[in-house]
Amino acid sequence: MIKAVIFDLDGVIVDTARYHFLAWKRLADELGIKFTEEDNERLKGVSRIRSMEILMELGGITLSQYEKEKLANKKNTWFVDYVERMIPEEIYSGVRVLIEKLKERGIHIALASSSKNARTVLHLLHIQNLFEVVTDGTMITHSKPDPEIFLLAAEKLGIDPKDCLVFEDAEAGIEGALAAGMLCVGIGSQEQLFKAHKVIRHTGDFTMEMLDEFNAVALKLNTER
Ligand code: BG6
Ligand code: MG
Repeated sequence: MIKAVIFDLDGVIVDTARYHFLAWKRLADELGIKFTEEDNERLKGVSRIRSMEILMELGGITLSQYEKEKLANKKNTWFVDYVERMIPEEIYSGVRVLIEKLKERGIHIALASSSKNARTVLHLLHIQNLFEVVTDGTMITHSKPDPEIFLLAAEKLGIDPKDCLVFEDAEAGIEGALAAGMLCVGIGSQEQLFKAHKVIRHTGDFTMEMLDEFNAVALKLNTER
């Protein structure tokens, strides 16, 4: 049975994935690197410094550790600027209702974000209280696609990873959830997120019927183990 749902933040709860893209795009433009939304898919879910390295790979440039960190920090300053101007309406529609329904079913709710800005975003949008447990980029050594953050969230909830369902918009996040032995819903396009157990366009599209389907899958998998 699904006993916990673990949500990613950027691109799942709130439209901050767009601000990460805009900030990386601004940096890419400054560096003269061609950077498209498709390229950006590779940056989703991974850590800030890994994102910087992928950008360098895309541009075919090498930089010292110092330069790399300096530029990643610059991108972060722009990202935080965008985030500070966010309004609560930028929380995806249907997210609050979905979390309420899951809670009514006795399901525990956690957040697992690679972002070091996760708590700031939750605070600015007044949505800290939606989550029983919050895990973020400041609490882990290995970012997604490593399963560390998901396993940490499950541990803090006191729930077995096999009873957890993850919501993710990033390929790296889906890989991390699967590596943690969890079930996973992809938020976005089927083509991009085909590794997930199910893909839906928007977080708010998830229904309790879908939860029942996941319960059946979990039951089947757990009896096979
Ligand atoms: C993830 C985003 O949630 O957090 C990535 O999907 C981002 O795009 C990563 O790079 C790290 O975020 P931050 O805020 O610590 O730079
Ligand atoms: Mg995300």
